[in-house]
Amino acid sequence: MNRLPEELRELLDRADRLPASERRDLAVLLRGWANAQSEGEVEPEDGFPGRFGMIGHSKAMEQVFALLARVLHTDVPILVTGETGTGKELVASALHQNGPRRKGPFVAVNCAAIPATLLEAELFGHVRGSFTGAHKDRQGYVEVADGGTLFLDEIGEMPVAMQAKLLRFLQEGEVRPVGGNAVKHVDVRVVAATNRALEQQIKAGAFREDLYYRLAVLTLSLPALRERAEDIELLAKFLLSRNEGQGLPTAKLSDDAIAALAASSWPGNIRQLHNELTRAAAFANDGLIKAADLELA
Ligand SMILES: Nc1ncnc2c1ncn2[C@@H]1O[C@H](COP(=O)(O)OP(=O)(O)OP(=O)(O)O)[C@@H](O)[C@H]1O
Ligand SMILES: [Mg+2]
Repeated sequence: MNRLPEELRELLDRADRLPASERRDLAVLLRGWANAQSEGEVEPEDGFPGRFGMIGHSKAMEQVFALLARVLHTDVPILVTGETGTGKELVASALHQNGPRRKGPFVAVNCAAIPATLLEAELFGHVRGSFTGAHKDRQGYVEVADGGTLFLDEIGEMPVAMQAKLLRFLQEGEVRPVGGNAVKHVDVRVVAATNRALEQQIKAGAFREDLYYRLAVLTLSLPALRERAEDIELLAKFLLSRNEGQGLPTAKLSDDAIAALAASSWPGNIRQLHNELTRAAAFANDGLIKAADLELA
């Protein structure tokens, strides 16, 4: 691996003293640098079947991989849908990491986590003095993502007024910071995600239809875990081995535990599976998770 560039090392040295916004930019720069070190398709972990850094060998996942392979090298906007915990963010990052923009930034914005009043400035930036607390010019997430991928998570939560501004950006490819006049051209690939039925929100007047068609040129629907039960054992073993690598609780699985996991319904999908395995591993005796150790629905 190449040495970290001087300016990044200098920023990293004082990372704990940086203001939050600069820390965010540092994180994006670091990720861009890390991406630039890798060439070619990201492989899943050793010995685990899958593609693009995602685990799975079910028919449903094969279809997801086939679709990803077709759209990786394009800039077609993609809407990723699926229940909570099905891997929507992982897909967005796989699209970025395996495509031609991998050397650029991957910027994830959770539209549900930012207060409506701040969303415009967070996305498009602001100029100094444009509102109380705007002490200096600041780039928005869209501009930070220039040359890379902008992941708009929980897009269904975006207020309608903001949806109109996002649509304008998607049509014109230009951002205008809050309080500023100058526009800047920005080149991003947009991936959006939602666990809400946007079609119903459109009917209810809560989501703009024109924005929907812009974002959902292609929709990638992730299967719920219970619809691909044949992947559960694989994922469970993968998640426990990932835990081991990260210093989190880990253990082996008994055969009756594997059968019990595969028969469970997992409303919280892979995230819930991971949480349950981590909990059970922390309490397992002799490093072995048995069916009786599991709390299952
Ligand atoms: N195919 C997969 N292979 C390996 N790990 C996966 C896979 N899909 C999801 N995961 C893991 O499951 C967890 C949840 O994934 P992610 O955060 O992408 O889900 P999400 O759909 O964005 O969830 P939410 O709707 O709650 O935001 C993460 O730890 C992720 O690494
Ligand atoms: Mg998510």
